[in-house]
Amino acid sequence: CKLKGDSTMSQTSAPDGFKEGLEDVVAASSSICFIDGVKGILAYRGYNIHDLATHSTFEETCHLLWYGALPTKAELKSTRDALAASRGLPAEVLKFMGTLPKDAVTMDVLRTVPSLLGIYDADSKDNSLAANMRKAIRLTAQMPTVVAAWQRMRLGQPLVAPDASLDHAANFLYMLRGEKPEARATKALDVALILHADHEFNASTFTARVTASTLTDMHSSVTAAIGALKGPLHGGANMEVMAMLRAIGTVDKVDEYIKNMLNAKKKVSGFGHRVYRTEDPRATHLRKMSKELSEAIQEPVWYQMSRAVEEVVNREKKLAANVDFYSASVYHDLGIVDDLFTPIFAMSRVSGWTAHVLEQLTHNRILRPRADYTGAEHADYVPIEQRKESPAVAKV
Ligand code: COA
Repeated sequence: CKLKGDSTMSQTSAPDGFKEGLEDVVAASSSICFIDGVKGILAYRGYNIHDLATHSTFEETCHLLWYGALPTKAELKSTRDALAASRGLPAEVLKFMGTLPKDAVTMDVLRTVPSLLGIYDADSKDNSLAANMRKAIRLTAQMPTVVAAWQRMRLGQPLVAPDASLDHAANFLYMLRGEKPEARATKALDVALILHADHEFNASTFTARVTASTLTDMHSSVTAAIGALKGPLHGGANMEVMAMLRAIGTVDKVDEYIKNMLNAKKKVSGFGHRVYRTEDPRATHLRKMSKELSEAIQEPVWYQMSRAVEEVVNREKKLAANVDFYSASVYHDLGIVDDLFTPIFAMSRVSGWTAHVLEQLTHNRILRPRADYTGAEHADYVPIEQRKESPAVAKV
């Protein structure tokens, strides 16, 4: 709607500074995540992602994102213990999950259950900083339990209770598989969780911040963010990558398959990025992990096919792989079913979403942009009997 007294009322072209898709638009200040898309630098709170992927753990990274500094040993123990103690789900929530259709998409389950968790949360009516910090910890702790419980429920397997002696990544694999994971798998998942934890104002984090900026509750922000992450242009891309690799089938068919896609102007999932003009630094780690895991399980086909796809897309479109490309083969090689790939992204990114919500609330101003209005300047109200069928209705 145009506003009375609006100086742009008679404007026919896009307002100054208008950027389709908010490209390069700075929407708020933040001290959480830095990206230099030209140099390929990503840092959380100033710490380069390569250092974090090499030396940190997911728990330590959560602490860094939430509190702004790397923890001391005692602080890390406190954050780790708080996460481990918060993994359980209320019986009512588990009961509800049991009523869901077994063929439901896991991202839809994940978009629904954290909303329900908000109702049962001990701080459900408290929007203070202290309560929101507790909610950040609880949501981050509970999401893996939701994903693992759902996977076992739909397979008709007994649920595996969280084990507080295990770290976040190991505990997830344990709840999922029902047996303690080997060190290699735990390490790979832990690094993947670090790499996915935050990424500045990506679509889902921006969604979380827009939602938080109305001063609503943390669970609403995370629920909205999960919905945004699900899309194939965002976190849903890792599932699309696996579907594409399966459709290609063998390495020798890659060249023709990808060229056909590009000729048909189709997007190749896992490539391109709004911010990076060079390789996504997260992809560098995931490529290496994909290679190592594929060798370890002696199933090189997914890594080899991925390399071949990458080579064609680099050559034909000059586009580099993003975080979602090699995470597909990494998760597959960890024995994880395709439908859980994006939920695992969410299990990690919830740490970033909640850090951004906490930050948004410390210097909040409602996020409310404007539209470049392209509709009718003026329309006369016509009585219903005199209206013609709209071409827009006929088209749908
Ligand atoms: N495959 C083929 N072409 C691609 C592409 C891809 N994955 N990503 C971008 N392009 C092309 C576009 O077709 C467009 O070409 P054109 O100028 O000839 O029309 C150009 O590159 C710019 O793409 P655009 O979609 O406008 O970029 P964006 O900044 O709006 O979108 C993404 C960024 C990430 C959404 C986009 O690169 C994409 O859709 N990638 C695939 C999905 C994906 O992996 N998402 C996860 C992101 S981490």
